[in-house]
Amino acid sequence: MTAIPTPIKPAGTAPQGMGATTRREAWWREPLVIAVGFGAFIVYSLFSALVWGPVFGAPYEASGYLSPFFSPLIRPDWLPSWFSPAILILWIPLGFRATCYYYRKAYYRAYFADPPGCAVGEPTIHRRYALEAAFPFILQNVHRYFLYLAFIPLLFLWQDAFLALRQGESWRIGLIGVVMVVNVTLLTGYSLSCHSLRHLVGGKIDCFSCSRGALLRYAMWQRATWLNIHHMRWAWASLISVAVTDLLIRLLAIGAIADPALRF
Ligand code: FES
Repeated sequence: MTAIPTPIKPAGTAPQGMGATTRREAWWREPLVIAVGFGAFIVYSLFSALVWGPVFGAPYEASGYLSPFFSPLIRPDWLPSWFSPAILILWIPLGFRATCYYYRKAYYRAYFADPPGCAVGEPTIHRRYALEAAFPFILQNVHRYFLYLAFIPLLFLWQDAFLALRQGESWRIGLIGVVMVVNVTLLTGYSLSCHSLRHLVGGKIDCFSCSRGALLRYAMWQRATWLNIHHMRWAWASLISVAVTDLLIRLLAIGAIADPALRF
């Protein structure tokens, strides 16, 4: 049996060797900001979802507001108190983000130096692996399935945002309620601007004008493209907003902040 050779990554045109480049500007600034920003989010979200409640007893809901990390809330009676209900749902948005095409580019550069930047040399060891054509990175191809799953918590987050604005028979426009609406709007923009969704609505078709169905898909593809242009911005804005929303609800729950609100 003939052994299949390990694919060799093309060397490219960048100077060889880690960090070698002819670029004169501070090319390292962007991957550094990404490494710090993405790392801070991962640390905060894991602390909030797994430690803050079970270890320190901080509630994840307050005054009718539910933290987005715990929505939809799945909390059967048999669940032990040390087990965070966030575990049952958070794997969907985290998997969706971890396999996102934009984030892949960002963290491959920031954490794996692959490459550290455009036209910047990378460690020569990188030439020996098979990119996303072999395990483990081939698993990144499940992104489209995470996209489908991501709409489930998203629908619940819209429900949470609506319920946050209602109190009994009256309306309550509170600071945190408004933040929840902004957050779910940004998360929707992030999901609808996904590259896989754009392919889903407009891909695998030869003629956009040959039928009414194809014309409809063309219209949807145009809108998905319009959103997709700013996918990176949707990604960062929604990442920040979901952490801020969770933080505000946690602080309200432990009495550290108030929630000024209009009621009518
Ligand atoms: S490519 Fe980023 S969410 Fe799909």
